[in-house]
Amino acid sequence: MNILGIETSCDETAASVVTRDGDGKPKLLSNVILSQIDEHFEFGGVVPEIAARAHLSAIDHIITRALDEAKMDLSQITGIGVTSGPGLVGGLMVGLMTAKALSASRNIPYLGVNHLEGHALTPRLTDDVAYPYLLLLVSGGHSQIVRVDGLGEYTRLATTIDDAVGEAFDKTAKLLGLGVPGGPNVEKAARSGDENRFKFPMPLRGQETLNMSFSGLKTAIRIQAQKLVPLSDQDIADLCASMQKTVAEILANRCERAVAFCDGINTLVVAGGVASNSKIRERLDTVCEQNQYTLIAPPLKLCTDNAAMIAWAALERFERGEKSDMSLAPRSRWPLDGSTESVIGSGRKGAKV
Ligand code: KG4
Ligand code: ZN
Repeated sequence: MNILGIETSCDETAASVVTRDGDGKPKLLSNVILSQIDEHFEFGGVVPEIAARAHLSAIDHIITRALDEAKMDLSQITGIGVTSGPGLVGGLMVGLMTAKALSASRNIPYLGVNHLEGHALTPRLTDDVAYPYLLLLVSGGHSQIVRVDGLGEYTRLATTIDDAVGEAFDKTAKLLGLGVPGGPNVEKAARSGDENRFKFPMPLRGQETLNMSFSGLKTAIRIQAQKLVPLSDQDIADLCASMQKTVAEILANRCERAVAFCDGINTLVVAGGVASNSKIRERLDTVCEQNQYTLIAPPLKLCTDNAAMIAWAALERFERGEKSDMSLAPRSRWPLDGSTESVIGSGRKGAKV
């Protein structure tokens, strides 16, 4: 199967082609991503209406580039996977309508994919990881620990009760005048900082729940920063390093505790934009070593939003005989584990709980 993936759920317009090679191993043929970061810059966050319009003007061109890079044309595509939720509805509609139009006009089956499932299955594309595994999904809209037992078999073990981890990074960057993209800028500043200079709170630590909380961290950084005004470059670096260390500690602590709930699993996968943070990866590596786990961290380009993960999730579902019909509507909310209750306030986009 040659699957074309389309992703438009937030502020990246992306298209990709994936397949399996002769031995059945996953193969990424192209992965084109157009970030809208400049369009939203002056507003300090993603503006849904601007995002939808930007997707609309870019999508045809991005799909053409993905096909070109894969050295294919539409006649060789055997299935289309498109993000149909969760996310910003205007953007989702652009992707979904494009997929439906291509499907109807070219007679290619298409399938609506859950964006979170895309993140969750990425290690199967990049590292051919076998089920079951434990997944730490950390991005701008979601922070979850999920047990993945098979395609569509997800048990959420933990979520954030307020801000998402990526949101904590983005807000810290904004507060310290580091601009966007928040996470990478905090990581960069932290490189010359002293991570032990400030001690920030780790809410819920020591309690029975596996859930996480990050909004207190943001407040603690603001209070500390106010005390230091005017901030020197070194103060900013130290605040970033201390913040990053605290987040890495919280995530490591929760993963360590989640491992104890997961008999029969020996792989921890870290996915989502925040997974590209090297301090966090380093800390998780230690947890894995101590618990005889293997840590799988997909390459950076496949950690942040992309269409390869959507194409891959679709490929797995097509192989199971699934496809969508023309009545499919975008969903702003679509939990990965439908059996767990949603936690109010968990994540900036809400939709991605
Ligand atoms: O998965 P993603 O591309 O988009 C969704 O939110 O779905 O994740 C983006 C988030 C942003 O909050 C960004 O600041 C964060 O991932 N991020 C990072 C790093 N790179 C991206 N956070 C910390 N360190 C990084 N190096
Ligand atoms: Zn995402």
